[in-house]
Amino acid sequence: MSILVTGGCGFIGSHLVDKLIEKKHRVIVVDDLSTGKKANLNKRARFYRLDIQDEKLEQLLKKEKPTIVYHLAAQMNVRKSIADPVFDARTNILGVLNLLENCVKYKVKKFVFISTGGAIYGDGVKIPTPETATEAPISPYGIAKLATEKYLHYYHHQYGLNYTILRLANVYGPRQNYQGEAGVVAIFCNQLKNNQPVFINGEGKQTRDFVFVADVVSACLKALSDKKPNIYNIATSQENNIQQLVATLQKVSGRKIPVKHRPAIKGEQLRSCLNYQKIKKHLSWAPKYDLEKGLKETWQWFRE
Ligand SMILES: NC(=O)c1ccc[n+]([C@@H]2O[C@H](COP(=O)([O-])OP(=O)(O)OC[C@H]3O[C@@H](n4cnc5c(N)ncnc54)[C@H](O)[C@@H]3O)[C@@H](O)[C@H]2O)c1
Repeated sequence: MSILVTGGCGFIGSHLVDKLIEKKHRVIVVDDLSTGKKANLNKRARFYRLDIQDEKLEQLLKKEKPTIVYHLAAQMNVRKSIADPVFDARTNILGVLNLLENCVKYKVKKFVFISTGGAIYGDGVKIPTPETATEAPISPYGIAKLATEKYLHYYHHQYGLNYTILRLANVYGPRQNYQGEAGVVAIFCNQLKNNQPVFINGEGKQTRDFVFVADVVSACLKALSDKKPNIYNIATSQENNIQQLVATLQKVSGRKIPVKHRPAIKGEQLRSCLNYQKIKKHLSWAPKYDLEKGLKETWQWFRE
């Protein structure tokens, strides 16, 4: 099949592209390289350096005629979305609409949208959180993700576009960027590699659900067999706090990690952990990596 991956030079997108190519699909990547790297890109993918807001996107879809679109390109820095909501909305809302309009025009059969669990459900929800929990995003980033989910409902209703929404927990793994507002695992691995202490905000009792990137990729593939529009959490349902994360990283690396504490961040979510029973039931997906196994592969990559 001919498959378009937006954000295919990024952390998660590049792993997805590798797997799709391994499965002999023809893969087209659109990425503006704002946070992604050309070095991540599989050489067998056809690459267009393009902003998803660009009107040239129409020519691309007309020419390449993808059957499937995986949409991962995003402004994904929550703090930046708070500092500049207009900038966030340009990519995360207007860019998405540009893409969706052209998907309908050039008859894309299926749209897989990479959404977020962390920024859509707030604090105070049931743990592990099911997809039926009330969405209460408190950042422009989370609002734009939720808005895209609603737009997809509209595009299905109006034009019959089939879609799957994957709400990811905290993803980690090789190639994750450790700069900017990066994932905590990537930041810690980089600090450890440079023999520097890691910084924990507050006591480190805040919990996250860490899902390994290969498991996210396998969920992306499973999504293709879903005939009807659906929303799924992609997670492990294992709640680990930041202290436990450091302890596990110490164990897999065999190194002692010096820890320093900083003041807690006001408003930081205290608990995040998602229930993945829906996708398990519908599409037989379950994560294969626990934190220790995933961290082992991640640390090996950072070390090398
Ligand atoms: N990493 C996580 O923990 C996590 C959790 C939930 C959801 N997500 C979502 O997964 C997706 C991929 O995230 P990631 O962690 O791989 O981040 P990433 O920054 O590595 O990947 C995003 C990619 O999109 C590209 N991009 C950004 N704006 C673009 C634009 N306007 N036009 C074209 N390309 C553009 C970037 O260059 C980059 O390659 C995002 O949609 C993100 O919101 C990630």
